[in-house]
This record gives sequence, structure tokens and C-alpha cells, in this order.
Amino acid sequence: MNIETVSTKPIAGQKPGTSGLRKKTAAFLEPGYLENYIAAIIEGIGGVEGATMVIGGDGRFGNRQAIKTLVRMLGAAGAKHLIIGQNGLLSTPAASCVIRKRQATGGFIFSASHNPGGEHGDFGLKYNLANGGPAPENVTSAIYKATQTLSSYKIAELDEIDLSKVATVEHDGLVIEVIDPVTDYAALMEELFDFDAISGLFAGGFRLAYDAMHAATGPYAKAILEGRLGAAVGTVRNGEPLPDFGGLHPDPNPVHAKALFDLMAAPEAPDMGAASDGDGDRNLVLGPGLPVSPSDSIAILAANAHLAPGYKRGLAGVARSMPTSRALDRVAEELGISLYETPTGWKFFGNLLDAGKITMCGEESAGAGSDHVREKDGLWAVLLWLNILAVRRQSIPEIVREHWARFGRNYYTRHDYEAIETERAETLMSELTARLGSLPGEKAGSLTIEGADEFAYHDPIDGSLAEHQGIRVLFEGGGRAVFRLSGTGTEGATLRVYLERFEPAGGDHAQEPQQALAEIIAAAGEVAGIEKHTGRTEPDVIT
Ligand code: G6P
Ligand code: ZN
Repeated sequence: MNIETVSTKPIAGQKPGTSGLRKKTAAFLEPGYLENYIAAIIEGIGGVEGATMVIGGDGRFGNRQAIKTLVRMLGAAGAKHLIIGQNGLLSTPAASCVIRKRQATGGFIFSASHNPGGEHGDFGLKYNLANGGPAPENVTSAIYKATQTLSSYKIAELDEIDLSKVATVEHDGLVIEVIDPVTDYAALMEELFDFDAISGLFAGGFRLAYDAMHAATGPYAKAILEGRLGAAVGTVRNGEPLPDFGGLHPDPNPVHAKALFDLMAAPEAPDMGAASDGDGDRNLVLGPGLPVSPSDSIAILAANAHLAPGYKRGLAGVARSMPTSRALDRVAEELGISLYETPTGWKFFGNLLDAGKITMCGEESAGAGSDHVREKDGLWAVLLWLNILAVRRQSIPEIVREHWARFGRNYYTRHDYEAIETERAETLMSELTARLGSLPGEKAGSLTIEGADEFAYHDPIDGSLAEHQGIRVLFEGGGRAVFRLSGTGTEGATLRVYLERFEPAGGDHAQEPQQALAEIIAAAGEVAGIEKHTGRTEPDVIT
């Protein structure tokens, strides 16, 4: 193998965030940018000599080119076996599945998740470990450290690699195996869920509209839902992965999945609406006339998981990220299992899953998953919902309303203020942090503050400490507002305000969330001085 050593200099700002390194596509296209970051990963994980690595991405602009660069650099660094999704495609949960199934050393996923793609959109790279999960803090900091001291990288000369054909070839001792991206994943889904029962549901006329948003889940959803489960052809919409996601923003929320929300609000709505994001790890589920909030969805899935074969023995425990509503806590309490509260970011669930402390986990940001892989999994959540629907033979709104009637309803919403000047957003957070001690007893709008703190997490497995993970303000009467800055944005800062109020069993569960939370929304705005600091009077996105 002909290997060239290229001298380079550290590039500022290559700091992995909530989910790998995510930047504007243009930044990744700068000469040496990707190469530097790959070299830093290789150094940060202690080299790849003899390694087996899984490689894939969500198919966005730049994906194939980046994979080719990665292959040449892994080859130069001594990797032995590369397993790559056909056409460079692997959804994030499928990548996690393949890493585990093939007992690979780790995996590289090219994705900026739900961020827009294309030349003017975003690009990203995330490294996952042998357990199939995102690299934890100690690894991402080692990678970041390596980005700051890099002086050269190695790259091999290789013949053209054909990513379009499922085949295994060898280049000077480096085995490059291009695999069908769906096979391993579909087999795993078939182990977990009752495919016969779900097929029966579709055979009985159940109608599903699944929006793949021109992103990674298209081929998976078509093969599994339409292919194996017999859902009507056309169930999967926008099923062709496109480099720019068809100019759409592959984030399944009320703004970017508006067409699906409109469809599900219409009188002729199908029985279920669902969508995934760019790399297929998020999910959104809607019933006719009733979108299911992600925080409710994870609670309902946990309460009903035993109805699916893969979870019939029950759950060891559950976890949610701190800003996620506490609906899951009520289910855990009733099931008599432990509930863990972690910082935002799927990587924090990894240790709990590996240690067998939890079976399922989820986040308000449309993520749900279980110990079957070490990523959240959009299609998995849709299949679990389908399995539950097939067994319970009730509609989604019936199941959701029964859940509230039994456990109470956690009214919940998230308000996002996007692309704020970073300095102004940081000032808002630091002023709020400085006032934490004096907030209890103060009035905010019509509410009185009961307590306030900054969330820190002691990982119960490895003892690590993650600090500054968001500010919590509790109001008298049980309401809660959480403030944090997003770790996945690529433009300025995004302020996320998470708002929640509990209405017990027997209470009024029929209100519109924005109305039910109006007092808390106003109080949160006042406590943090959102308008004063950001100049904004309205959030950009409400989920
Ligand atoms: C990614 C991560 C999630 C996280 C979400 C929002 O999807 O995998 O774990 O909840 O981003 O993160 P952010 O920092 O933007 O709120
Ligand atoms: Zn994603």
C-alpha cells in the first residue's frame, strides 16, 4: 500500500458536541478539514491497527467522498477490515446494529442527523465504540485534544472503491466489504417484534403514513413495512434518500414535518402517522387528530413493551434525559423499576444499557430506544407502536388517553430560539446561573419559584461527572421549566426552554398543551429574561 504523510496544522473548533462533530458542509469541504478530524479520531481512540470498522452515513451531500477519504486513511493507519453500507448508506441505528453483530472495533457515521443537508447545509462525523454506542466524554475529549496538536496525517493510495455493489474486495491486505444496509437490521427487528401480528394488522386494512423525509430510513421502511409486513405500497413517503433531502429539513417536528401533521389532522387521516429524521434515529408518531409527544411516547412504550416478544420478560429499568417530561417516571414507579435521569445526549445511556441497569430509554427530542442497539432507533419505535396496536386493537388516541387516565398527564412543550448570537445566549445562561441561590421564593409572572438548580450527572457505572447540563426551575404547584443551550446547532446558539406541568389521574387531560402551560411559559420567559437577552418575543420552533 502506498502511503503518503501529509503535514497539517490544528484547525480550531473541531470539538465534538452532543453527537459528534457537526459543521456546515462548506467547513468540511475546506482542504484538510475532514482529514484532520479523522486523524484526530484515530489518535484519540489509540490507533486502528488490525481493526474492523463499520462505515456508513445518512446519504447527505459529501457522504460518498468522505467515505472514500476515510477508507484511505483507515487503510494507511493499519485497519484490516472495513464494512461499508451499500452506496455509503447506513442509518445510525443500523450502524450500531452492524457494529455489535459483527463485533467490530467501532464505527464511523457520516451524518448531521436532523440538520438540513446539501452543499449549503450541514455535515457531520460521529465515532461509535465496539458496543455500538456513541463515544463517551473521555473518548470525545481525547479526540478533541488530538485535533489541537495534530501536525500530520497519513493517507493511502487505493484503487477506486465501488460503493454501489454488494461485494468484498481486498486492496493490499485491506478487506473492504460492501454490505446490504438493511439485512442485519431487519433480522434484528424480526427477533424483537411479532411480525405476524403486525402483518395481520395491515391485512385488516390498517393505514400508516410513514414519512422517511428523503433520508436514511427510506430503504429500511420500504423493505420492512411494505416488503415484509405487507403495508400498502405508498405507505412510505419520500422514501428515496437524496443528498439534499429533497431540499427539506429532515427533522420530524411540527414545523418540518408539517405535511404529515396536516395529513393526520385531516378528517380522512390514516390510522397512524410516523416519521424519522435524516439518519433514522429519531421517531415521531401521530394518531388521527392527536400527535403523540415524544415524552409521552416513551412512557407509553415502556408501559406496554411486554406486549412485544423481545420485551415480554419486562424491563430491567428505564432512563430519560433530564429535560424530558417526567411521564416515564410514573410508569417506572408503577412497574416498580428504577428510573435514571441523564443529561441530554444518547451517549449517557450507554453505560446504563451495557450494565443491564435499563432496557429502554428515551428523550424529548424524539428519541427512543432499547438495549437492542446503542443508539436511539426511529423505525424500532414505530414497530413497537405497531406491535402494541396489533395486540391491543385500539386506536392511538384511545391508547394515549387511557394512559393519561391511568398515570396522569404531563403537559409538555419545548420552545426553541434559534440562531441567537452566541454571546447573548451565554449571558442569559450565566445570569440565570448566578441567580440560582436567590430564586426560591421569588415571583415569576403569576407563579412562585420553589427551587432552582443546575443539573449535573454522576454516572453510576463509571463515576464520571458531567456538569452544566441545564438549569431547572421548579414552580410551586409542580410546574417545571428547564433551560439549556443546544449542543447540536451549527449557527450561533439555540436556546431550548422545556416546559412541563403535571395533571393527575382524574384531572383535565383534554387541554391544548400551549394553553395548559401558559402560566409556566410566561414565568419561564420572565425568570430568564428571554426577550431582554435575545430580542425575541416568540420561539422559532415549538415542539
Ligand atoms: C441528538 C442527540 C440526542 C439529543 C439531541 C438534541 O439527536 O443524539 O441525544 O437529545 O441531539 O440535542 P441538543 O443539544 O440540540 O438539544
Ligand atoms: Zn438523528
